[in-house]
Amino acid sequence: MTPIRFATLAGVTALLITRPVGSAEPAVTLTIDVAHPGHAVSSVLHGVFFEAINYGADGGLYAELVQNRSFEHAEHLYAWGTVNRGGDGDVTIETAGPLNAKNPHYARLTVRDPGRGFGLGNYGFGGIAVKSGENYLFSVRARTDAAYQGALIAVLEDESGRPLGECRLAGLGSAWAQLDGTIKCGATATSARLVVLATAAGRVDLDVVSLFPEHTFKNRRNGVRADLAQMLADLHPAFLRFPGGCIVEGRDLPNRYQWKDTIGDIAGRSENWNRWQDAVRGTAPQYYQTYGLGFFEFFQLCEDLGAEPLPILNCGMACQYQSKQLVPLDQLDPYVQDALDLIEFANGPAASGWGAQRAAMGHPEPFHLKYLGVGNEQWGEDYFARYKIFRAAIKAKHPDMQLVTPAGPGVDDGFWKLAWDKFRSGTPADIVDEHYYRPPQWFLENATRYDAQDRAGPKVFAGEFAAHDRDRRNTLRAALAEAAFMTGLVRNSDLVAMSSYAPLFAKAGAWQWAPDLIWFDNTRVYGTPSYYVQSLFSNNRPDRVVPVTVAGPAVTLPPLPAREVATYGAPPLTPYKPVSIPALFAAGGLRGSAGEIVVIVVNPYAEARAAIDLHGTKSIAPGARAVVLTSASPDDENSFEAPTKVAPREETVSISGPSFEHTFPANSLTILRLTAAE
Ligand code: AHR
Repeated sequence: MTPIRFATLAGVTALLITRPVGSAEPAVTLTIDVAHPGHAVSSVLHGVFFEAINYGADGGLYAELVQNRSFEHAEHLYAWGTVNRGGDGDVTIETAGPLNAKNPHYARLTVRDPGRGFGLGNYGFGGIAVKSGENYLFSVRARTDAAYQGALIAVLEDESGRPLGECRLAGLGSAWAQLDGTIKCGATATSARLVVLATAAGRVDLDVVSLFPEHTFKNRRNGVRADLAQMLADLHPAFLRFPGGCIVEGRDLPNRYQWKDTIGDIAGRSENWNRWQDAVRGTAPQYYQTYGLGFFEFFQLCEDLGAEPLPILNCGMACQYQSKQLVPLDQLDPYVQDALDLIEFANGPAASGWGAQRAAMGHPEPFHLKYLGVGNEQWGEDYFARYKIFRAAIKAKHPDMQLVTPAGPGVDDGFWKLAWDKFRSGTPADIVDEHYYRPPQWFLENATRYDAQDRAGPKVFAGEFAAHDRDRRNTLRAALAEAAFMTGLVRNSDLVAMSSYAPLFAKAGAWQWAPDLIWFDNTRVYGTPSYYVQSLFSNNRPDRVVPVTVAGPAVTLPPLPAREVATYGAPPLTPYKPVSIPALFAAGGLRGSAGEIVVIVVNPYAEARAAIDLHGTKSIAPGARAVVLTSASPDDENSFEAPTKVAPREETVSISGPSFEHTFPANSLTILRLTAAE
């Protein structure tokens, strides 16, 4: 039957699968047993994973337009330049009498002659994109010496220096103070700059120079980019995992993510270098975390998206591939206390210590945190020694808090086995976080990986996954492999509680890791085929599964080479054997109070005609729909120029009886939504 050709190119497996086209006889039979619904589908099955990687936070989702606003990057004037309009002066970086101890550096303008203005210009993250008619909110912390008797002018200028709008700020004094203004922008520009000018002779100190679009997602102050957040909102994610990822661990312990540095006034948040500065590909030596998008903003975003918050905390271990630093067990208390304090920050009454800080930021109501991760991709006995201490302390105070516990950086290797051996022999766990970054073939082969897993143990969180196709491109092939795998997540969602693709965002020209779910630049955004897979699963999630049987010629694949399934060099436990995969990948369920039937079918092969039997229904109501994600070639991708080349299309289908035939296009994900009629 199905001829398969298999090739290995530059370390990445390419699958080319063909099947005879246009056969009048259905090649496959799908039986959907509507009469025997099974388990409820986890209500938090499909969520999103956020990390400050690929300029996903600063320069990305976080709507701040000024880069290096607090002059805390190692190169203190990075993204800044002196602007001198016929005057005379100096720009220096100072530390005496800082704004606060967490923000020790500031810029000093020593103006001997202001000319038509002397000051600094910021180029944002590769230019500042502004729109005609929009308002931009400028703010700065500033102070002057007694000699300075002028104002400050903040001007938006286009690439040629043409002013687009400005605001004038008066009221400067000898003590640090925040000054705010609004700039109405008179023209659109993609690569503008913000210029801050002194207008008199004397000394002016500047810090936390900030510019936001007035229009952010839900119009929050210190908010997130409306277009990027809307992409998330359209996914209707059940949860948002933050802030990562490896960023939680840090390259070393001082570099780890500390949530307490990320709340309160933005001027008091300690900047940290971003561990993706020296990433897998390329370097970005001035990639920093301002923490402007901090834990309060994450919780607020979760609320705005209707998503459960899932923070992941450092467990006293830095990256085990890099510094391998460990906090001694007898010094772990502050780390454990951070976790307890976070729960109070999220859920405590407004009168509690940390609850009061949440209330002071404008949210007296709790955020209803239910899930908390202890460590990111940790493994080995060092992890379990620390995990037990965290778990005991958290469960003692918050027995209902669901803890997410890593099983190492990959699956089916020694680290992963040790974790599961522990969970099955006395180490309690609620939800185990498994990560898979593997070739598309692995995802096809692993669509059944949870079918036979013991239900007595902890739940599974497919916490980071992505099919890595040739050159790590976001192809339809990769997306369909993920979709095939996800049919297994739906089918086993009594065991698999949560799942999320990773990473979420990548900025064109400034990324460290691919593939990614959503690509953007300063003005544009598009979803990859994988984005539409996530969207289709999330927006068509059944409430209850029904048994689905696929009968048809199975496909046997040659084994993947071990190096393609090793995670960071951790070899697989057993050699790979040839694996049979089904003729189609499918899952089904019932949705909503009317019991709408949802059938999810992934066809990674050539076009297939299938006979479908909705066992247990008599007839189908008019208005059945099919949503189809496909494209001419499995190599197809989306781009800024063709953002929806691979995007779902909805069709009505003419189905009246419980037995019908349907053609599944080559390289497609199809969601059928049908309602049984009496
Ligand atoms: O998603 C990118 C990285 O992959 C994450 O930071 C890490 O957890 C994993 O190794």
